[in-house]
Amino acid sequence: MAIRVVVVGAGIIGGSIAWRLAQRGAEVTLVDAGAMGGEASSAGAGMLATGGEIVSPHGWRQMALESRDLYPAFVQELAGESGCGIDFRANGAVELAASEQEWAHLEERAAAQGGIGIHSHALTIQEALDLIPGLEAGSMFGARFFPGDAIVDPRDIMGALRSVCRARRVRLVEHCAVRKLRAANGTVQVYTPMGLLKADAAVLSSGAWSGAVEVSGAQGAIPTPVSFPVRGHLIAYLSTPGRLNPILRHQNTYLLQRTSGRLIAGTSEERVGFDRSLDPDIVADIHSRASRLLPELAGIAAEQSWTGFRPAVEDLEPRIGRLESTRIWLAYGHYRNGILLAPATAERISGQILSS
Ligand code: GLY
Repeated sequence: MAIRVVVVGAGIIGGSIAWRLAQRGAEVTLVDAGAMGGEASSAGAGMLATGGEIVSPHGWRQMALESRDLYPAFVQELAGESGCGIDFRANGAVELAASEQEWAHLEERAAAQGGIGIHSHALTIQEALDLIPGLEAGSMFGARFFPGDAIVDPRDIMGALRSVCRARRVRLVEHCAVRKLRAANGTVQVYTPMGLLKADAAVLSSGAWSGAVEVSGAQGAIPTPVSFPVRGHLIAYLSTPGRLNPILRHQNTYLLQRTSGRLIAGTSEERVGFDRSLDPDIVADIHSRASRLLPELAGIAAEQSWTGFRPAVEDLEPRIGRLESTRIWLAYGHYRNGILLAPATAERISGQILSS
């Protein structure tokens, strides 16, 4: 008989895990409090940017590198199986330093990154301009190119995951908030407003909402890491397709472009709980920072601005693995890198469940 797994949370993490499990013969139910991919997964810019994100030693960096390497095959397989187009571009990233001090810091970071397989090289100002014509070179002290950085449109990924999950008979239950998971006798009971689901294993992958799901076992409550949202703002411009091929970044500002021409600029970080509202000052600040990097943006109004909730836990280290003595797996806390970490998280969690 097929193993029954309930995956709680249908973002890119839960959706990828459900797909991998279903491919390997599991009977999967995927439950979400809202719509599949309706939160951080659709809001994200879709940077697969180990060069920009792995800037200090942390526990998940090996997994991030593994996931980066898995990405081209993950996208190819997902696009092939779903028949959906996925906008994935491995054009690298140009990172700028505006002062001697920033440059020294970037060089030091790049040397450390090189030691773990994140390669980059210094660009002359002319080389940077050749890669990104119109870049504001006047205020630039130095630039480096990170060839391994890439981008993907997370909405394309979510559309494709919905399609492959459906084709593989994953039971998708949307607008159903799971309240509690109870582990007992080698099984898991999943409490939902639509009734009790019984499973041989469960995965908690509800992003910033994960910590709100009560978890218990035969001996009572089992503590799980507290989760919380870190709100980020993004804005988008309509621009000419092919205008910006690599990611362009400087400090906490980044710019990237979809194949369609849509140019996205970010970002901000705010710990304001689940407040979705747009802060006009932050939107204006991102526009101003983006315009300093690409001056042509100064004269264009953003066509859209939005916020998203990065799913964080207190030490900003994702929790990916089995909850001791239970058949419950945690897959949350991916913070700024959920899109990047999805393929490796899905491999790890589905592999552990099916071999346990
Ligand atoms: N991964 C980029 C961000 O969270 O803004």
